[in-house]
Amino acid sequence: MSRIDNYTQNILTITMKKIISLLAFLAIIISCKTEQQPREITRGLITQKAMVVSARAEASQIGKDIMKKGGNAFDAMVATEMALAVVYPYAGNLGGGGFMVYRLANGEVGALNYREKAPAAAHKDMYLDSLGNVIPKLSTEGAMAVGIPGTVAGIFAAHEKFGSLPIEQLLQPVVDLAKKGYVVTEKQAARFHKYSSIFSEVNEDSTMLYSHAFAKAETVKNLSLAKTLENIIANGKSEFYGGETGQKMVDYIQSKGGIMTIEDLKNYEAKWQVPVIFNYDNLRIISMSPPSSGGVCMAQILESIEPYDISQYGHNSEKTIQLLTEAERRAYADRSFYLGDPDFVDVPTATLISEAYNKNRMNTFNWDQATVSSEMEYGEIPGYESMETTHYSIVDQFGNAIAVTTTLNGAYGSKLYVDELGFFLNNEMDDFSSKPGVPNMFGLLGAEANAIAPGKRMLSSMTPTLVEKDGKFWMTVGTPGGSTIITSVLQTILNVHEFDMGMQEAVNAPRFHHQWLPDVVMFEPDSFDQQLLKRLENKGYTINQEDSPVIGKVDGILVLPDGSLEGGADRRGDDTAVGF
Ligand code: GLY
Repeated sequence: MSRIDNYTQNILTITMKKIISLLAFLAIIISCKTEQQPREITRGLITQKAMVVSARAEASQIGKDIMKKGGNAFDAMVATEMALAVVYPYAGNLGGGGFMVYRLANGEVGALNYREKAPAAAHKDMYLDSLGNVIPKLSTEGAMAVGIPGTVAGIFAAHEKFGSLPIEQLLQPVVDLAKKGYVVTEKQAARFHKYSSIFSEVNEDSTMLYSHAFAKAETVKNLSLAKTLENIIANGKSEFYGGETGQKMVDYIQSKGGIMTIEDLKNYEAKWQVPVIFNYDNLRIISMSPPSSGGVCMAQILESIEPYDISQYGHNSEKTIQLLTEAERRAYADRSFYLGDPDFVDVPTATLISEAYNKNRMNTFNWDQATVSSEMEYGEIPGYESMETTHYSIVDQFGNAIAVTTTLNGAYGSKLYVDELGFFLNNEMDDFSSKPGVPNMFGLLGAEANAIAPGKRMLSSMTPTLVEKDGKFWMTVGTPGGSTIITSVLQTILNVHEFDMGMQEAVNAPRFHHQWLPDVVMFEPDSFDQQLLKRLENKGYTINQEDSPVIGKVDGILVLPDGSLEGGADRRGDDTAVGF
């Protein structure tokens, strides 16, 4: 090689080294910049004062209008709940029940239980044949499936205690909506198409309102429901619990072979109770107490995972999924044994949600191998032997916040429709354990604690939840989804708290679910890394991506650092946030 060549070679080498150093320097600067810049959050609707997020735009709008006129969150609750009965008969209801958790502007918290009850003539073996086998569909379809509805009692209880506007002012817009009608969405049309012939069959009536499979963009007017609501405005709660409306409903149920009586209705009361309250990091979580399993079960799962640094594992990473699945396995095993209506059975809530108990439950967890559900029973405590629900969240301009989950249980409940009154009746009796060891429609098992008894409330998974952060109100959240309610609410809270998502992002993020038995982990399809799922399978987890196209349909509201509100309205439905 010549001297010139050597010289050129040296110059080129030095130049190349400089370029490489410069590029490395630029890369460091870019990566530092990337680390410093927080991830951009795609937010949902943001408003300054008040918001309603529910399954339908019309119901959210009615609630918002009430608050705009000076009403508070409880006034908005009354109107939103009834508006859902008009525009979302799939789960919105007069013939069902629900739970509300509230937090007043002064920090006071509480819960309202308007869950259905078993009729007086109900008994433990009412769904069994002479051989002791469960009679198919008896607890899910038709008149025998119906529990005593609690919703109308619920709205009156909320209004009596906290309402500020007269009931007629809250319900008149709903009457107007029922008369004017609502426009059927694409998702709604698909459901009417699926169920309308079943309605005709169950009711032996092909002329009733919903025997017609309303198509997308058709308008549905429900004049019978408008009349029922007008009668309730005129005569109050007793119109339903013993009056003409109640009598017509009972007559219809009995004409179809049911056991509910007018006395059952007269004896029904909604109940104020203390919510389940627990801490997770710097959050204080306020959720529904038994007869819902939601608060207890979610507390158990969060207590179980708290010692682990889940934010380091990453959202929907192998370790996060594994840890949550194992915590869920243990909590749902306890749910099936210990939980029931505390008016009838002793529920060891304090022990179940304690840190020590859950730490001990996780002793058998190891990262290499899935625990086998059939070898994993409920924990020992000394001294002890549906998507088809709907949730809405409301924050008002006074600083009050509520989370309400209400249900008919299955899609359109028992499918029994009182055409004259304009509403469907629940099939909540299926949430009892018809027979120990036989799963209900959500695959949930139950034991003695959730056996049927007259006047008893069936165990629920509904998890209306409020969260405080550093002592201030931070989030209201909940979802439908039967047994998947608890895990959907839990993942949404973790998405915001651990994985820095906004409310809308947290609600939209793909979800998974495990409930002890069946020993399967369900994943929303096309949403998870297939290699990751393969690795979980190799550790002994059974993966199912087919059976549940969506898991939960979460609606929530988050208070942002500047005090404004961000709505999270689930993309999986027609859910809508409205506010001001
Ligand atoms: N019906 C669903 C639940 O209460 O969990």
